[in-house]
Amino acid sequence: MPSSLPKFQNFLNLDEFETAARLLLSPMAHAYFAGGACDQITLRENISSWNTIKLWPRILQGVANPDLTTTLFGHLAALPFFPAPVAMLKLAHPQGELAVAKAMNQLTLPYFASTMATTTLEDVAQETKSTSAYFQLYCFKDLALTKSLIQRAEQAGFKGLVVTVDAQSLGKREADIRHEFHLPTPLKLENLDYQSNLALHAAKGSGAERVSAHFDTSLDWKSLEAILADTKLPWAIKGVLHPEDATIAASLGAKAIFISNHGGRQLDGVPTALEVLPLFAKVLKGKIEIFVDGGIRRGTDIIKAILLGANGVLIGKPMVWALAVGGEAGVLKMMKILEDELRLGMCLLGCSSLKNLDNRYLFHA
Ligand SMILES: Cc1cc2nc3c(=O)[nH]c(=O)nc-3n(C[C@H](O)[C@H](O)[C@H](O)COP(=O)(O)O)c2cc1C
Repeated sequence: MPSSLPKFQNFLNLDEFETAARLLLSPMAHAYFAGGACDQITLRENISSWNTIKLWPRILQGVANPDLTTTLFGHLAALPFFPAPVAMLKLAHPQGELAVAKAMNQLTLPYFASTMATTTLEDVAQETKSTSAYFQLYCFKDLALTKSLIQRAEQAGFKGLVVTVDAQSLGKREADIRHEFHLPTPLKLENLDYQSNLALHAAKGSGAERVSAHFDTSLDWKSLEAILADTKLPWAIKGVLHPEDATIAASLGAKAIFISNHGGRQLDGVPTALEVLPLFAKVLKGKIEIFVDGGIRRGTDIIKAILLGANGVLIGKPMVWALAVGGEAGVLKMMKILEDELRLGMCLLGCSSLKNLDNRYLFHA
């Protein structure tokens, strides 16, 4: 680490991790983690939309130690925010996925393992024994590969599947194309076969595009049902932006919905999670767990998400920056900053439990 870098243990907010990580990562790696699709309108709006609503505090409520627990797949979680599944974490730090998994193990919080990880799902499972781990599944043209991933996740002890459905075709990420994104050797997509890895290592253009060419673009509700028919694992859908899609998923047995625009990396110019969340809450609150992600950087963003109907949130890029800067300790520090901000926010809002958050705490003139 360059000696001029500030010590991450003194960081006060998540943005400081980003500034420090930018100095550490190669331009190609930084562009891969930070970039969005096309004009990056959605990438920017993910951040700004959390500032479009205001909290409305009540005084003298005697709140000193608010209840910050939630449920995920029906299991109690001590906090309502978790690192999002993010691909290729060894590009950020040599310990990659294992560093994040170890941090979550320490905190007894869930870990979401990406299909596109640079560590095998079996190795991740080993590190998450005192917590619950969920496997994020991409569906491949090669049905046998998709099914074998599900079987491996079952055997390794994952508690559920999170099927990501918004990236069957990869978004147009111009920064990756410009930087000729590829996974430097000896890093590999450890969960995948030789063919997919070959595509990612080849130079020129975007390797991410080439590997995603193996995803099943013909995936629909029927084929998804068939893919999930043989597993006993509970499952959720990630990458939903329309409440009607969430209703279909719920009718097929999904345990949770992850409202997400993939961090602004897929279709540019779509709504943010905050914008659509109230529509989901209207039809699905209490019937299915609802999680959101995209641009959450402050404890107050988490409060806003829960107030509008979410059970919890995922944190993507800040987790990567924290990992890059400090490995496992960096991720722990990032989680602590958010926890402190969330707790303080609830005290200042005068609300004793996340379960009591609702529209009463939303300012409307
Ligand atoms: C570099 C990067 C890689 C990602 N890889 C995956 C992935 O493998 N699977 C997945 O479901 N989502 C993936 N996502 C999306 C995240 O899970 C999450 O939806 C998004 O990052 C949330 O937005 P935020 O980064 O603003 O917090 C990725 C996001 C980033 C930034």
